[in-house]
Amino acid sequence: MNRIGYFGLFCIAVLAVVACTRRDGQKELKLGRDPVDKIVAAMTLEEKAYFVTGRGMNLPGVASTMNASTTPGEPVVGETKDLVEGAAGTTYEIPRLGITAMVMVDGPAGVRISPMRKDSGGTFYCTAFPVATLLASTWDTDLVQRIGQAMGNEVLEYGADFLLGPGMNIHRNPLCGRNFEYYSEDPVITGEMGASMIRGIESQGVGATPKHFAANNAETNRNALNTVVGERALREIYLEGFRIAVDKARPMTIMSSYNLIQNVYAAESRDLLTRVLRDDWGFKGFVMTDWFGGRDPVAIMQAGNDLIMPGSVDQAKAIMKAVQEKRLDEAVLNQNVTRILDMLARTPRFRGARYGNKPDLKAHALVARQAAADGMVLLKNGDAALPLSSGSKNLAAFGNTSYEIITGGTGSGDVNEAYSVSLADGLKGAGFKLHEGLRKAYAEYLEAAKAQAKPAQPLMPRPVIREMAVPSGMLAGAAEAADAAIITIGRNSGEGFDRKEENDFNLARAEIDLIRKVAGAFRARGKKTIVILNIGGVIETAGWRDWPDAILLAWQGGQEAGNSIADVLGGKVNPSGKLASTFPMKYRDVPSARNFPGVVLEANDRAAAEEAQDEQDMLAAFQRPKPSRIVYEEGIYVGYRYFETFGVAPAYEFGYGLSYTSFDYGGLSLSSSKFSGKVTATVQVKNAGKAAGREVVQLYLSAPAGKLHKPALELKGFAKTRLLQPGETQALSFDIVPRNLASFDPASSAWVAEAGTYTVKIGASSRDIRQSASFVLDTGLTVKKESAALVPGEAIRELGN
Ligand code: BGC
Repeated sequence: MNRIGYFGLFCIAVLAVVACTRRDGQKELKLGRDPVDKIVAAMTLEEKAYFVTGRGMNLPGVASTMNASTTPGEPVVGETKDLVEGAAGTTYEIPRLGITAMVMVDGPAGVRISPMRKDSGGTFYCTAFPVATLLASTWDTDLVQRIGQAMGNEVLEYGADFLLGPGMNIHRNPLCGRNFEYYSEDPVITGEMGASMIRGIESQGVGATPKHFAANNAETNRNALNTVVGERALREIYLEGFRIAVDKARPMTIMSSYNLIQNVYAAESRDLLTRVLRDDWGFKGFVMTDWFGGRDPVAIMQAGNDLIMPGSVDQAKAIMKAVQEKRLDEAVLNQNVTRILDMLARTPRFRGARYGNKPDLKAHALVARQAAADGMVLLKNGDAALPLSSGSKNLAAFGNTSYEIITGGTGSGDVNEAYSVSLADGLKGAGFKLHEGLRKAYAEYLEAAKAQAKPAQPLMPRPVIREMAVPSGMLAGAAEAADAAIITIGRNSGEGFDRKEENDFNLARAEIDLIRKVAGAFRARGKKTIVILNIGGVIETAGWRDWPDAILLAWQGGQEAGNSIADVLGGKVNPSGKLASTFPMKYRDVPSARNFPGVVLEANDRAAAEEAQDEQDMLAAFQRPKPSRIVYEEGIYVGYRYFETFGVAPAYEFGYGLSYTSFDYGGLSLSSSKFSGKVTATVQVKNAGKAAGREVVQLYLSAPAGKLHKPALELKGFAKTRLLQPGETQALSFDIVPRNLASFDPASSAWVAEAGTYTVKIGASSRDIRQSASFVLDTGLTVKKESAALVPGEAIRELGN
């Protein structure tokens, strides 16, 4: 007090009042200090309209009218420049009311920003974490939460506010080009993984953005695809993962999807965004569109899609005009603004959080390495070919991706990482020696192939380089010299395009030949062949899996992938991943193969001409989607629900994965044989082998079929043991609650559990059930009543699902 003195204090107080007082004498309001409703009341219509439409985006090849920042001479409020270079989008700031901008960066495999900046000599690399499909295969929610923390920390450290992830769509069909960004064919895994990721990200004080809500399961014509799906399948399969995530992790925002659902754009669907998301599930955050998603800004606002991204001046003007002409109730707009402000007040930029552009990339790389190793799935291990013995130090590495690993998919889910560890480098680092002649031959082959290839276009998938036909002399030499063969098969895909059945789902001729010849040459000399699958989605394996001794599904493991694969091959890490999506015998076994990726409507000469052109120009196909429709005829029978119920044998079933040890299951007990509110199942899992390891334990439920038909079994819970030493046992418990018994009945728009006997099945996979026990529900239950929303037309009703 002495130093400042009373006069000093008085001056500060006067200055504060002056600073908060407008010229007309009214007190200036500030978000954070004054209630949000007062702030909204103080906003002009123009401010509100610009606030709910983002600041645009400079996307190569996209018309500038879509880019607010490039529309000349427009009177825009709250200008924000490129706050974080390479961010996907920003929102308007309104400084007079203390409203800061929000910066959104992609996801979901890591933060996606420019690694270099115009005004800085520094670098701004981010960690490329393993793709979501791999993370789901860990079945380890704690680990996924730690990945989320690391990602969230990079968002914070680089001065952004929201990460555009996790991706939470269901793997309905193996060809969906973005499956690598999504977790699983099962909603429980999707929901649990998503919730853990959201918790991890938001623990850093930044926002997570689960996406793409909802039923966005194909990329072909993605902005014009009408998804027609029965209410039961919608609720039980396509919405359930999002519901779990909203319930357990309460994300700050959600991104609506590009597609239409029952003929209405997701971004314009009041049923989806208000009745289901808010009324039924109690979501309290705001909803943003996918980039350029939805059509009519007024309908978007009315649906409860609060923020239009990346936003344009035209959209803001349309909103202002609609309010002036009384086509849009200003109260609706006020509600949209309020929801965004409520969350904006939690963002780091608003809170004035300091950031240093220096995340601990080394620590994050360690988490990425562990996760990648923990999510790999050992599909085959004939004669204990793996781990490689200490006598197998000389390896012959075949396949392009042995030398140039694929860390993740393309498009917005790609990350600009500082480095990536190839398999060759990972193996060398782990003390293996690679056959030099082969290494050189591949280096020359890849260089020549790349020199001939067309340059990669931004956001487009990178063209795949055909496998080299290894000359027979070279193969024989390598088989003589090396102790074992490694063959890596790689796949890449990304946003805007679906994969193809031939030369992608099915291996190309050159790949088949490579596996057959290499395995033959090594087997003839009593040596082993190991196939590594460096892929983002499901492929065909049944036709060639007999040839190699072992198959390791390494997925796309992020920047540390080479090290992680070497950790597993060398036995430093005992594989503990299991499949979160089924590998069918053949593509046509998948029920959605009948209708994926939908049919183009109103084909006419113009469309045909465009199609011819599109085949040559992928960018054109990307920008010019054709109105199309897909009917989810298979209803709830997606993935293992189909294969197990209809007796179709897969190549590798849901939940499958081998280990270097084995586990015994025993002593399943239920807390009661009658269900009243809850039953707890407890099971003992023992490491019965010789190596330390972890086991993924799955709880399935088979419900009595009454009024509603039921899948043969459904996953209701899962857990992963700690690292068990040989001979060690761990008890695992699972709570079964009323919701786990229930199916969605479209007739009453309610989750209902029918009376009868329920069987708990504890499995090492969906086909390897080790323990089972039953309980009875005496009287049927209505577990939860929901809105009668998203009702499809009659046609799908007749399908009965
Ligand atoms: C993708 C989103 C992404 C957004 C921003 C869209 O094309 O579908 O997943 O977050 O772009 O980059």
